[in-house]
Amino acid sequence: MAYETIEVRVEAEKVGIITLNRPKQLNALNDQLMDELGDALKKFDADKSIGCMVITGSERAFAAGADIGAMAKYNFADAYGGDYITRNWETIRSIRKPVIAAVSGFALGGGCELAMMCDFIIAADTAKFGQPEIKLGVIPGAGGTQRLPRAVGKSKAMDMALTARMMDATEAERAGLVSRVVPYEKMMEETLGAAIIISGFSQLAVMAAKESVNRAFEGSLNDGVMFERRLFQALFSTQDQKEGMDAFMNKRPANFTHQ
Ligand code: CAA
Repeated sequence: MAYETIEVRVEAEKVGIITLNRPKQLNALNDQLMDELGDALKKFDADKSIGCMVITGSERAFAAGADIGAMAKYNFADAYGGDYITRNWETIRSIRKPVIAAVSGFALGGGCELAMMCDFIIAADTAKFGQPEIKLGVIPGAGGTQRLPRAVGKSKAMDMALTARMMDATEAERAGLVSRVVPYEKMMEETLGAAIIISGFSQLAVMAAKESVNRAFEGSLNDGVMFERRLFQALFSTQDQKEGMDAFMNKRPANFTHQ
């Protein structure tokens, strides 16, 4: 598969680096990007020489969410029946070797959810996390309402999902969303350092440690994610979803009519 929306390279002969690469859309996550990301992760996972993977974006944006331009016109039949937008999003959870998110700039909506699907997050001091879907007349659709409360607790997760405010890197570290914060210039060096350390250990022990920590974190998560997905998809039958996304596309304030 030739990649158009991601760049893939190997560092130190054992770390697979995937860089999201849709700069004009701030790395907004469309179906093509998610297909390519899933393909690259699966190939690295199957490659015995690779011990750890890293997903990163640009200095300005890790990813600004699912692609609003692509989904603005979707209705319930597209979102639910076609499984557009969120298809393939669980691929990353099936990867057995560790995946680190190296986040600089915006990690919003699906971007925050993608970072949270990774095993841990190393943030640059420029990072900003948020779940602003409420502004579009929908809710998070790729695990945000399930993973964020587990990571930062109910109060902060509610605050972020209901007010759409962003959390900076310092707050994210304090809240336990990210494991380390470093200056942007050091982000890849720090992340690569961690990935090389992991790659030096037994792959079997590393996979077992990952699986075991996820067991603690993910009890009944799948039910929660599926529940959330059905609500997200159902919101594509509302006028407010059309209004919220049209307002974003046309750079105007949204006027929600609650129907
Ligand atoms: N989808 C598509 N395009 C996007 C995008 C997105 N999620 N986010 C940004 N872009 C595009 C903008 O439309 C803009 O394109 P043009 O130059 O062609 O107009 C370009 O990226 C740069 O964006 P801005 O001009 O808006 O840059 P800014 O610095 O003023 O603001 C921002 C940056 C705060 C990230 C703002 O772009 C923004 O709020 N983006 C949307 C964030 C969002 O709502 N994400 C959630 C999406 S829904 C979702 O993810 C559902 C899910 O759970 C699966």
